[in-house]
Amino acid sequence: MTKIAPSILASDFSKLGEEIKDVERGGADYIHVDVMDGHFVPNITIGPLIVDHIRPVTDLPLDVHLMIENPDQYIEAFAKAGSDIITVHQEACPHLHRTIQLIKSHGVKAGVVINPATPAETIRPILQDVDLVLLMTVNPGFGGQSFIHSVVPKIEQISQWREEEGLSFEIEIDGGVKVETAKLCTAAGADVLVAGSAIFNQEDRKKAIEEIRQSSE
Ligand code: DX5
Ligand code: ZN
Repeated sequence: MTKIAPSILASDFSKLGEEIKDVERGGADYIHVDVMDGHFVPNITIGPLIVDHIRPVTDLPLDVHLMIENPDQYIEAFAKAGSDIITVHQEACPHLHRTIQLIKSHGVKAGVVINPATPAETIRPILQDVDLVLLMTVNPGFGGQSFIHSVVPKIEQISQWREEEGLSFEIEIDGGVKVETAKLCTAAGADVLVAGSAIFNQEDRKKAIEEIRQSSE
């Protein structure tokens, strides 16, 4: 069954705890937390303090997507705040193996992310070391953007390498995922779908989650 990871970026931050409980009741598998620094991406969101505050609110894994420069400097803080998965951008990590090992050294699952224009080959050397590969289907920075279809062959490529090399990392897709695009991702090999606006902009989040999951299968 496809895992669904609602992105709290599209939620109402004035009642964040309630919003998280609502999607947990609605059948979410992960809570996707978008961390932006105003440097790596042109937007600023939240830091470890918020992760620390939402940790007791949910039993679901916190899937923390770091869209920040120099992530090494903040990994310990995000780990201590209660992250279950930390993903870092290949584009922000000149010493990618070191960064992935640093995440794991805190007992947290480690993932690598690439932007839509970054070739799959750039993460091939790290595939055997990661728990998750996150493929962006929008340029990160904002919710509500349109799915970039040219990323689909990259999902297929990563999925093929996973099979050939006998690896078991999850493939997660982030950006513009909704009922119309979910199946494209899972048919290409994705296991986890992040969705922000397609879930939080709906009145009935349970229904929104179920519809995305159903359309992906
Ligand atoms: C984009 C973020 C995404 C975003 C997805 O920079 O990484 O997680 O919240 O939002 P939607 O699903 O609205 O494209
Ligand atoms: Zn994200």
